[in-house]
Amino acid sequence: MAAERILVVDDEVMNRDLLEQILVRAGYEVSTAADGETALAMLRQGTFHIVLTDMRMPGMDGLAVIREMKTLAPSTIGIVHTAYSSVATAVEAMKAGAYDYVTKPVRRDELLVVLQRALEFYRLHSENIGLRQQLKAKYKFDNIVSDNEKMQAIFSQVERVSNTDSTVLIYGESGTGKELIARAIHYNSHRQDKALVTINCGAIPKDLLESELFGHEKGAFTGATALRQGRFELANGGTIFLDEIGEMDLSLQVKLLRILQEREFERVGGTRTIKVDIRVLAATNKNLETLVARQQFRDDLYWRLHVIPLTLPPLRERLSDLPLLIAHFITRCNVEKKCQLRGITPEALQMLSGYHWPGNIRELENMIERIAILQGDGVITPGSLPEQVFRTHTSNLVPVVTIPPEGIHFDETIEAFEQQLLLKALVTAGGKKSLAAKLLHMNRTTLIEKVKKLHLGDL
Ligand SMILES: Nc1ncnc2c1ncn2[C@@H]1O[C@H](COP(=O)(O)OP(=O)(O)OP(=O)(O)O)[C@@H](O)[C@H]1O
Ligand SMILES: [Mg+2]
Repeated sequence: MAAERILVVDDEVMNRDLLEQILVRAGYEVSTAADGETALAMLRQGTFHIVLTDMRMPGMDGLAVIREMKTLAPSTIGIVHTAYSSVATAVEAMKAGAYDYVTKPVRRDELLVVLQRALEFYRLHSENIGLRQQLKAKYKFDNIVSDNEKMQAIFSQVERVSNTDSTVLIYGESGTGKELIARAIHYNSHRQDKALVTINCGAIPKDLLESELFGHEKGAFTGATALRQGRFELANGGTIFLDEIGEMDLSLQVKLLRILQEREFERVGGTRTIKVDIRVLAATNKNLETLVARQQFRDDLYWRLHVIPLTLPPLRERLSDLPLLIAHFITRCNVEKKCQLRGITPEALQMLSGYHWPGNIRELENMIERIAILQGDGVITPGSLPEQVFRTHTSNLVPVVTIPPEGIHFDETIEAFEQQLLLKALVTAGGKKSLAAKLLHMNRTTLIEKVKKLHLGDL
């Protein structure tokens, strides 16, 4: 890795030389400037990790350098060095955006520790910016694929609500894209540069959830050796996403109610009330109304969350999206897994349209990924598809039975269905019993027996 670049700004040549010597020996790449204006000109031309500036200089002082630097090169870190007698001005500089300060005369060890800490911060900060930008690109709408009318209506609702602070409750079966929609809302809102904190209410053990959500004070319980901020506190300024809200324990629902209503809470074991500015999103694959009726979900909490409900339709209700989604996942797999899948045959698409997709879009995504890895290239044919697709394909042929209030006779119904199946097979086989038996995957003698028993022999 290239050495980190540091710009030293000081009007006194002795100080400049001393700092340069220390820093070069420590392995940094060092440039120097004798005044603020020169420093800014250098910042315009090159990238520096750190600017180490004197506070009191003729002309432009250190404070002004830090201020200008924050607009010119926002990710560069400013550190000031100043005489002990004027530490107050260093505090000013930190308010203006400096990261830290060292006092004069500068001690080598102290300076190097401060620099190391600053560089660690630089690394985390720039990673964070990069990551946020990546995430932002990923969760803008472009990555949510759908042609379906209901989904389009949801997209326009998402667009309208994103930039408000309204609570959104997202319903949908597993794998329908609830988290994707939650992310789209956050990354299309004015909170996009702040945190999106997710809490999976079903995955955190009940006795840990409270401290996870609200944090705890040092010594609040055995094992609480240090103060810890909870997720609500970490989400301050941003968005909190309560995933699988239907799984939340009743006793915690009361506590949640308060933060949703007042946006305030206390840490576990604490007395100080902490106020936060957060936007709340929630998701569930359960029917919350049913849970309310069963007294497993508080109805006051339900109404708090049920401000803007969005319901994502299951994939089996938007099968017309299959070609788009398949193309989307094929493109992604080809790039990420270096595959060369070229599409899907109409027969294979037909098979997939007959499947009931219990795992929804996640199941489709995983299926395409598996095919991409196993098959690598070519076209997806029925032969590429996993067995479960065929199994349900058969059971799809079974008529949907409804039971009338007066009930139905089991044996008679089965017999009528058997009769229909045999007839259909015999007709399809042009009356040839051996072929009809084959179509029904039964042996010929069984078919003949059944035909006799059901009086179909005259056909
Ligand atoms: N419309 C879509 N377009 C593209 N990809 C989608 C779409 N909907 C869902 N996906 C993908 O499907 C997968 C499942 O989506 P997501 O995790 O958002 O579902 P979920 O409803 O939160 O599921 P669960 O209830 O199981 O947590 C993700 O990898 C997501 O990227
Ligand atoms: Mg989810």
